[in-house]
Amino acid sequence: MARWFTGGGCLLAVLALLSAAFWAGASAALDPRDVQAGQALFARNCAVCHGESGRGDGTSAAGFATKPADLADGRLMNDLPDDFLRNIIENGGPAEGLAPTMPPFRALLSAMQVRQVIAYVRSLARPPFRAEEHRSVATAPHAPVQPIFFNHIVHASSFQLACQYCHAQARRGTAAGLPSVERCMGCHKIIGAQDNPEIAKIHEYARRGEPIPWVRVFKVPEFTYFPHKPHVRAGVVCQTCHGPIERMRVVGAETGRTLRNDLMNLVGLRTSPPPLSMGWCVDCHRDQNRRGAQAPLDCVTCHH
Ligand code: HEC
Ligand code: HEC
Ligand code: HEC
Ligand code: HEC
Ligand code: HEC
Ligand code: HEC
Repeated sequence: MARWFTGGGCLLAVLALLSAAFWAGASAALDPRDVQAGQALFARNCAVCHGESGRGDGTSAAGFATKPADLADGRLMNDLPDDFLRNIIENGGPAEGLAPTMPPFRALLSAMQVRQVIAYVRSLARPPFRAEEHRSVATAPHAPVQPIFFNHIVHASSFQLACQYCHAQARRGTAAGLPSVERCMGCHKIIGAQDNPEIAKIHEYARRGEPIPWVRVFKVPEFTYFPHKPHVRAGVVCQTCHGPIERMRVVGAETGRTLRNDLMNLVGLRTSPPPLSMGWCVDCHRDQNRRGAQAPLDCVTCHH
């Protein structure tokens, strides 16, 4: 048995070298040696809960209210960044807002072993994981501490909920709007209710009849008027202005006064304006109008 494995390892290694030579630079693809090492580590550390083939049917899984997800379901797994998986495996479920029944493996697995386990998990995915489409976690500046650890990576990347499913006012009104507690409860009355403390908080707000006091991130000053509706209707996608929200574990942004940029402009350095500054709005409006849009450039439309 052991001999067979060694032989297999050699063959895989040769194949890996050949394919590496052929694809010159395709280092992002899964390395079969990592996949094989990862498989053994997975069987030893993870299979008891996740099952031998990662389907969430391990012997210990039956006892959990929140079952381990099917790690072989490519529709759920392929859009999750490596760094998200690494964080969960090293630091446990709560590092990404998931249930603490997913334990941390920091003390048991080296960084390389974690990488190998991830390679194995990736190799299970159907539809297959495509390394060239992999995107990393976006670390947003000035992310505040929110009352509940709500993770856009889980909702918008893994479960692929549409932005406007939750921000439902965006195409109808001035504000995009945040989902009500009832909307969260629509799913979380059941999902995660029993063993995820972050989700238990939703139940607390619902019981007290209080809205969740989310900390606001994107904000223009009071004297400025920004309506979502004309932008969404003109086909400007959310990410143009907000960045890759679906890859943020906590939403954050550089907002407020932009003194450094203002000073650079003052001394004659033409810098590109940062998001939410007036120069940013006006730059895009000029650009859009050259393509036939009718975005306002007069003061009173944006200032009352
Ligand atoms: C004691 C049981 C247990 C063990 C052992 C365990 N897990 Fe988990 N794991 C869970 C549970 C339960 C969840 C679901 C948590 C949730 O969704 O809130 C989970 C979730 C995950 C997720 C997140 C999946 C997703 O859909 O976002 C990954 C990735 C993961 N586990 C990988 C591993 C790996 C790799 C190992 C071994 C190194 C491992 N787990 C060992 C119980 C376990
Ligand atoms: C359409 C269904 C749906 C809605 C609506 C929804 N969620 Fe979730 N949520 C999920 C699913 C599915 C998971 C993954 C469950 C798991 O693996 O533990 C999840 C996971 C979570 C988690 C744990 C992982 C994370 O994101 O940190 C939290 C906390 C959470 N949701 C909060 C919320 C809040 C707050 C709202 C309302 C603003 C909300 N959810 C609305 C389906 C939903
Ligand atoms: C399941 C519901 C849900 C989905 C789906 C969702 N969001 Fe959110 N979003 C929230 C909640 C709750 C908050 C408040 C907490 C926070 O800032 O993370 C939020 C915050 C935001 C913010 C910051 C608001 C502020 O305070 O300035 C932006 C921008 C945003 N979402 C954009 C998006 C985009 C773009 C998508 C699609 C890629 C999306 N959201 C998908 C629930 C959702
Ligand atoms: C043209 C740029 C632009 C686009 C496109 C855009 N936003 Fe915004 N968004 C902003 C600005 C600017 C603010 C701050 C507005 C304010 O303070 O009044 C904001 C605020 C928000 C907020 C917090 C306050 C609120 O309005 O509820 C959310 C949530 C949000 N946007 C979500 C979205 C989503 C989801 C989409 C896509 C459907 C989207 N935005 C598209 C520029 C944009
Ligand atoms: C990425 C490009 C882009 C950015 C950035 C942008 N806009 Fe716009 N804006 C547009 C487009 C496109 C339209 C719609 C033009 C049309 O309908 O033909 C528009 C329309 C508007 C309108 C007209 C509303 C109406 O009812 O006619 C206002 C007001 C406005 N924008 C304010 C702002 C403000 C304030 C900012 C900065 C905080 C901003 N925009 C940033 C592209 C942008
Ligand atoms: C497309 C929308 C838009 C138009 C058109 C526009 N502004 Fe603004 N303006 C803004 C936004 C957004 C801010 C807030 C930016 C910030 O705080 O960095 C702002 C800020 C300002 C400020 C305050 C600057 C500061 O540092 O506090 C002044 C003064 C101002 N605008 C004057 C004008 C005048 C005068 C015009 C017409 C020539 C004009 N604006 C046209 C969007 C616009």
